[in-house]
Amino acid sequence: MKKANIAVIGMEVMGKSLALNMESKGYNVAVYNRTAEKTKAFAEGAAKGKNIIPTYDLKELVDALESPKKIMLMVKEGQPVDNFIDMLLPHLKPGDLIIDGGNSFFKDTIRRNKMLSEKGILFIGTGVSGGEEGALKGPAIMPGGQFEAYKLVEKIFRDIAAKAYDGEPCVDYIGPDGAGHFVKTTHNGIEYGDMELIGEVVWFFKNIGMKADEIADIMAKWNGPNDILRSYLIEITADSMKQKHQGSDEFLVDRVADITRMKGTGTWTVQSALELLVPIPTIAAAVFAREMSQDKDLRLEMVKRLKISTGSFSGNKDEIINVAHDALYIAKISSYAQGVALLQAASKAYNFSLNIGRIAKIWRAGCIIRAQFLDEITKAYESDPKLPNLLAAPKFADFVQSNIGKLATFISVAHQCGVPALAMSGAFDYILQITSPIMPSAQVSALQRDYFGAHGYFKIGGPDKPELMVNEKGQVREFHTEWLLPGRPEREITK
Ligand code: 6PG
Repeated sequence: MKKANIAVIGMEVMGKSLALNMESKGYNVAVYNRTAEKTKAFAEGAAKGKNIIPTYDLKELVDALESPKKIMLMVKEGQPVDNFIDMLLPHLKPGDLIIDGGNSFFKDTIRRNKMLSEKGILFIGTGVSGGEEGALKGPAIMPGGQFEAYKLVEKIFRDIAAKAYDGEPCVDYIGPDGAGHFVKTTHNGIEYGDMELIGEVVWFFKNIGMKADEIADIMAKWNGPNDILRSYLIEITADSMKQKHQGSDEFLVDRVADITRMKGTGTWTVQSALELLVPIPTIAAAVFAREMSQDKDLRLEMVKRLKISTGSFSGNKDEIINVAHDALYIAKISSYAQGVALLQAASKAYNFSLNIGRIAKIWRAGCIIRAQFLDEITKAYESDPKLPNLLAAPKFADFVQSNIGKLATFISVAHQCGVPALAMSGAFDYILQITSPIMPSAQVSALQRDYFGAHGYFKIGGPDKPELMVNEKGQVREFHTEWLLPGRPEREITK
């Protein structure tokens, strides 16, 4: 039998779908699963009659492959990935390639890449986004690792990836070692942000008396061909909210428990942001909202003990729907600006050499956050690679400047009606903060720290001179006030 071009390990939904996708593009694919029954079931089911070679031990799998061997792991992140790497190693030779296509933590990927490259084995950690359908018909692929490793699978990846409307495959070399997984994790953080922002709008609409099908119709309109909000997540919100519960008259959405679980990538995004000192309040709010959703017992108990009285909506419904539309768009821009800022900080800290414009291009199709809107991000960074923040891109800046009042209105009306808007508020406040040359809240905190802990503070030129005071060498000058001494003298701290 002809040798396989690539192997897929892990016959859960993503692994099977990817194997079928590869086969459909003309590749011979060897497959393996830890429990043989799954491999057998696949071989006798969806893979029957196809160029898919079932194997039942790892030596058999490796032997079935042409050289250099290319083996893609589609297994649960964490220990299972390490276990498979350890089990594969005795069968591999320098120049062979292992690909981890799961949602792995990027620091694990950096560690694995280092360990394997010391043995001459190439390693790619890649994001694969798009769920089951994407894996089968075309995902967005975000590979990180050695460039020569990427070259070994570039053709396969380009063939199986989703194609954007201009025909471009949604895959590109992201950068070294953990770059691909970092970008995928951030993609998921942005996905959480999008989902929570949409959810807050839905909560508000529900609060002012709209039924699920009415909200679904609004979402469907917002997914119109030329609508700025047009995106996969808006589309599936519209579609899923129309779904009835078990053939009854009730909508499924009204019967689904208000609990959003999560597997960890959103939390990693926030953890990375904390580590890299990058504020991502919308994405963090989305994680916090999921956490609050999971504490159902607490909420059921609290409502008995703390009654929050709120007003009700008395404005014009059509008007507030339009306000919500533009508010959501601004919040989305803000959230993506936060995600991009995180990518840029990680790129510096970990030498990922990320190209934001090209990453946005990959996300245009196949992945969960896919949207026409991503084209604007690509264009923004193509025309100005030094953009200080996505919000400064002229097209976004114009929209935000002209419509920011609508985001303020949405948040305030939502709050008046008792609807939380954590992510929306985070998005709004991010814009307010990032455009403040002086943050008085930080001025007072700086003083407080110096007062209680002698931690020192920097100075600016004056109320109208926000620039930092520097010495003749250009170094920022630091000061301390002796708060407990008479006259409270100020002295300069020299380092
Ligand atoms: C994707 C998805 C995918 C998956 C997440 C869900 O890009 O295809 O993001 O990776 O659906 O694991 O994440 P949570 O379980 O954390 O919501």
